[in-house]
Amino acid sequence: MATAASEFAQARLERRAMSEPFYITTAIAYPNGRPHIGHAYEAIAADVIARFQRAQGRDVRLVTGTDEHGLKMVQTARGQGRDTLEFADEMSGYFRQMCDELSISYDAFVRTTEDRHHQASIALWKAMEANGDLYLDRYEGWYSVRDEAFYDEKELIEGEGGVKLSPQNTPVEWTVEESWFFRLSRYAEPLLKLYADNPDFIRPESRRNEIVRFVEGGLKDLSVSRTSFDWGVPVPGSPGHVMYVWVDALTTYMTGVGFPDDRASYDRFWPADLHLIGKDIVRFHAVYWPAFLMSARLPLPKSLFGHGFLLARGEKMSKSLGNVVDPMELARTYGVDSLRYFLMREVSFGQDGSYSDEAIVTRCNAELANSFGNLAQRTFSMIVKNLDGVVPAAGEAPDDAALLARVAEAAAEAKSRFGDYDFSVGLDAWMAAVFAANAYVDAQAPWALRKTDPDRMAQVLGTLAAAVEQLAVVVEPVVPNAIARLQAYVEEGRAAGRLAAPTPIFPRLELVDTPE
Ligand code: MSP
Repeated sequence: MATAASEFAQARLERRAMSEPFYITTAIAYPNGRPHIGHAYEAIAADVIARFQRAQGRDVRLVTGTDEHGLKMVQTARGQGRDTLEFADEMSGYFRQMCDELSISYDAFVRTTEDRHHQASIALWKAMEANGDLYLDRYEGWYSVRDEAFYDEKELIEGEGGVKLSPQNTPVEWTVEESWFFRLSRYAEPLLKLYADNPDFIRPESRRNEIVRFVEGGLKDLSVSRTSFDWGVPVPGSPGHVMYVWVDALTTYMTGVGFPDDRASYDRFWPADLHLIGKDIVRFHAVYWPAFLMSARLPLPKSLFGHGFLLARGEKMSKSLGNVVDPMELARTYGVDSLRYFLMREVSFGQDGSYSDEAIVTRCNAELANSFGNLAQRTFSMIVKNLDGVVPAAGEAPDDAALLARVAEAAAEAKSRFGDYDFSVGLDAWMAAVFAANAYVDAQAPWALRKTDPDRMAQVLGTLAAAVEQLAVVVEPVVPNAIARLQAYVEEGRAAGRLAAPTPIFPRLELVDTPE
């Protein structure tokens, strides 16, 4: 028999388990232009994960920010005749604004030009140096400013007219300069062991396989400082050198939780549970980052996920094609929740996906407005009209129990899918339960029961209200604003003893002609 003391201990354990930390990061974008829908996609996915984990009782930290050093920023600012910091200030502001406008619940927004971040990068550098992993030499090789990456001759591809291009199809230039090197070659074996011991370290599996093959091919030491420009974190004790932009960029993940000075926060949240990044930058996160941390003798992140790319009507977005869409404009036109829902529902997470205004409108009208929104609207309107707004208890007839069981099943399925970052499939399960609820309304026809069997009508409406509330909880991480409104409406109704007349939570969208 459980004693009071053991129950107390159990409750304490449960509370502690409930507040287990969960630390997730997005990549930090280069603010060399305004944010596009690809950046929005990543921020939204990270926020859905953060909100989902919060709903599971985890103590979540979500960190995002901007990656402001490197040659790309210098060149872009120069090209526009602007001071680099002043340019970064303005552009970084748009990224923060995007997060705010898209309801991204970030806890910290790190700009790599901040002093706290310089301190963190210097601390990491010194730790790698103390381990004997940094040495001065001369770099001679190919560099892509667009990717901020060094490439091996054998990795390059041939573009039009025989010009050399990076594997990402970006221009490369021959670079010769004195540079600090990181002994990456030492880490091939430890990295392969890391991947073997932690099969979920890199997801999805296809990206993991690419990385394993790459590391199995052997690793060369990595150039980690530059001398030809000074826009970066100064290398400690080495005047004239700034850190290679990826060294400081990756360190952001620790800056965001207080490294190196805020021990309490750092100890609680580091290592990160998940780095959410695009497929193009998996190598930096799966190879360089764990190697830097191994060298610095710091704990390694638990996992990373390389999501796919978002394409505009199947085509890569580019300024020259004129198909770069401002995500804030899209959210203003169709609503933040609609945009979030569309992106999480339409694209199978990990794969590339495509978006268009038509697809957003079609998907959101069919599923949010006509299915879930209509279900909620019908249910609450009937309760207001026929029961004076008093929400009845759910019915206990077999049909009622069957619907609520169906909803509970969908909730469990969605939870397990969301936990695996399989959002579209999780939402599919949710949608199937919404359909079941709508089919239940049609089959039970509560409007007809009003005269013939008012008690049964109340049971049916009570069952529906319970179903709507449970379905709302499932989809909350994806459409937090609409669900907050719905929940506030129900709460206010409960407090007042009766529901007020409902307003649709998902109005129907109209296609807006976008200028070609
Ligand atoms: N600054 C680096 C990341 C440093 S992380 C320590 C960088 N910046 S970026 O602005 O080019 O990209 C930021 C994120 O957006 C990356 O995860 C990238 O994969 C993602 N995306 C960029 N274009 C994208 C799409 N079209 N679709 C989806 N995600 C895309 O890389």
